[in-house]
Order: sequence, then C-alpha cells, then structure tokens
Amino acid sequence: MEEGLRIGVLISGGGSNLQAIIDAIGAGSLDAEIAVVISSRPDAYGLMRAREAGIPTCSLTKELYRDPAKANELIASEFARAGADYIVMAGYMRKVTVEVLRAFPDRVLNLHPALLPSFQGAHGIEDAFNAGVKVTGVTVHFANEAYDKGPIIAQRAVMVEEDDTLEALTERIHAAEHELYPEVLSLLAAGRIVIDEDRKVRVLGRSPDGRRSSDG
Ligand code: GRF
Repeated sequence: MEEGLRIGVLISGGGSNLQAIIDAIGAGSLDAEIAVVISSRPDAYGLMRAREAGIPTCSLTKELYRDPAKANELIASEFARAGADYIVMAGYMRKVTVEVLRAFPDRVLNLHPALLPSFQGAHGIEDAFNAGVKVTGVTVHFANEAYDKGPIIAQRAVMVEEDDTLEALTERIHAAEHELYPEVLSLLAAGRIVIDEDRKVRVLGRSPDGRRSSDG
C-alpha cells in the first residue's frame, strides 16, 4: 500500500500553522502523517495542539541552543528516528543549521510571512507594513544555508488595504499561510514539486497560468 508523506514539524510558538496542517490531514485534503513535532521551547502552545492530535512531541530548551550544532544534531536524530521524510518549519524561531540541512538535503521547508526575497528576517509582516508596500504576502520555500534565500516553492499575495492596521494585515497574512502551507504539502505528497538544475522549483502538471495542464 502506498503511504503518504511523513513529515516532522518544527515549531516555537502558537502552532496555528501546525494546526492548519493537522486539520488538512484530518479533512483528507493532505495525504500525510506528522511523525513528530519538535519545539524549540517547552512552553510552546503548539505542543498542546500536537498532543491533542495524538502526535509525538519533543522539546528543546534555551540551554541546549547554547551549542547550536548539538541542538541541531539532536533535532536531526529525532526526526530520523521518527522516520520523517521532510521537515516542515512552522513558526520555528531558530535557525536550522547544517546538521539538519545535510541530514535532509532539499527536504526542509520554511514558511515566511512576506514575499521573499523582500522583507527577509524575523519581522516580515511589520517590515512590509512599515515600508508602505501595497502588496505583501507569504512564501513557502526550501531552506538552505543562506537564511531566507532557498528555492521558492509557492507564494500567495496579500493586498495591503487603505487604512490597514498591522493587526488586520497580520491576521490576513496568517489566513493566507494556513491555506498555502497545506496546499504546498499536498503537492509535495503528490510528488509534484521538483528542483531544477538551475535551483528553481517547478510544480509538475501546472501550466504557466497556474492551471493543471495534465488532466484539464
Ligand atoms: C507565522 O507567521 C510564520 O510565518 C512566522 O511565525 C508565525 C508562526 O505562527 N515565521 P504559528 O506558530 O504557526 O501560529
């Protein structure tokens, strides 16, 4: 029997994106299983969401991150032990280092709350808002050693409205994330995401205008 995608999820906080993934699996729109959720902090609310869904969890502490290589080795070995094929960062506020990236080459995904390569870093929503852009959005990309610069898999635009507030924009960004991340994971589960020799991502079976080209 063919099995779905087996993913390991990295979180640091509320875990609303983790929840969106759990819900998509529950609804049958994402053929995947979450092997384990690892949190960079023991008090992350996302851990409760994982436990609630019966998913094994593991958490690290600030002390452990004093030696980032060791912390990342631990993360890589936990994911390997759980049999994860892909690592999904969902609001993970630490950097993944070579210990994880080399254990899962081109198999670590990240979510960024802006349209990369614009507004890289930890404050993507606020930086875009303060810059006065009219369009921002969310990006799902493969993580590599250059922070926020790995191959882009998918993006979704979010318009900045007249008289928008940072709070309102943040809410719409999160809503876009909750849609896009599970969608990307289901493309991955279907084997439709490939990285070309030029390190650009192609979604198989999609014509340039975004429609499926294979079966109409
Ligand atoms: C998301 O906006 C993500 O893009 C950012 O942190 C937030 C995490 O939210 N890096 P949650 O923990 O998934 O609720």
